[in-house]
Amino acid sequence: MKVCVVGGAGYIGSHTVYELIDAGHEVVVVDNLSTGLKDAVHKDALFYEGDITDFAALDKIIADENRKKPFDVVMHFAAKIVVPESVKNPSLYYYNNVEGVRTLLDVMVKHNIKNIIFSSTAAVYGKAKDGVCTEESETKPINPYGETKLASEKMIGWFAHAYGMNYCIFRYFNVAGAHKTLEIGLLRDHLTHIVPVTIQTALGIREKMTVFGDDYDTFDGTCVRDYIHVSDIAYAHVLGMEHIANKNVSVIINLGSNQGFSVKNIISEVEKHYPVNHEYGARREGDPAKLIASNKRAKEILGWTPKRDLSEIILSDLEFRKKHKK
Ligand code: UFG
Repeated sequence: MKVCVVGGAGYIGSHTVYELIDAGHEVVVVDNLSTGLKDAVHKDALFYEGDITDFAALDKIIADENRKKPFDVVMHFAAKIVVPESVKNPSLYYYNNVEGVRTLLDVMVKHNIKNIIFSSTAAVYGKAKDGVCTEESETKPINPYGETKLASEKMIGWFAHAYGMNYCIFRYFNVAGAHKTLEIGLLRDHLTHIVPVTIQTALGIREKMTVFGDDYDTFDGTCVRDYIHVSDIAYAHVLGMEHIANKNVSVIINLGSNQGFSVKNIISEVEKHYPVNHEYGARREGDPAKLIASNKRAKEILGWTPKRDLSEIILSDLEFRKKHKK
């Protein structure tokens, strides 16, 4: 299939491009390089610099490419994803994440592209009652980031209804790790996610780290999350795309492991390799105690289960940071 990957120079987007190319698909990447890196784009993908909120730019890229061979699928990764930033600057999040999706959908409608794969998040669930989320769990985001993703999910649903499109919406849980070649991984200034923060501390790139709260109602008092390797997430996109395009259907699917690990578990796993200089501090605003995916639907519909466990996630990010010294 011919696939347009918007945000294909970013963390999850670039890994998905690698999986698509490995599976024999033709890939065109569009990215504004605001957080993505041109070097992260696979050498066999065609790259265009362009912004998701710029209708004229997207329109031209798609028209030019469609003349060579029409796109079968669009994948959307071009979102702002930092929760505290969304609380401080909701306008940026609504503009980029919601207006950006509307613009992309308008271009798809104009060029009659029927299939969209959309990156959503566990943040749409907010504080899930027992911490385990199925796709039927109540969606009640507790921050602007989650709200913008839920608004986009609904918009995609209504566009699909109006214009006969198919969608595959993936709700990611906590994505981490790096590609087996160590060529791509999560490289960004001011990283805030627990896996890279812990590993940067272990490698001495950071002096120390803080555990945000150890008085939660969990087995060891620290927050519990569902960690999933970025290459497992990326491969699910290949399966999701083939599923909706071949069967002419739409789906919403959690991508997680069904397992929860605490912040203390993450530190212990990294400490199997190097000591981690950490201290305990106050809770971080907006953190639910526990968020774990039910991945039953992914298994049933796509035959997908994660292949890599927590130790592989940690090891791949560790090797990646050792190589890139970041
Ligand atoms: N944490 C620390 N210290 C740190 C960084 C994080 O203790 O320096 C803790 C957090 O308080 C939280 C846990 O580690 O309890 C995980 O935090 P992350 O920032 O790594 O990830 P989040 O669970 O907050 O959010 C991530 C994504 C969201 C997504 C969510 C889904 O950033 O986009 O996972 O579970 F919605």
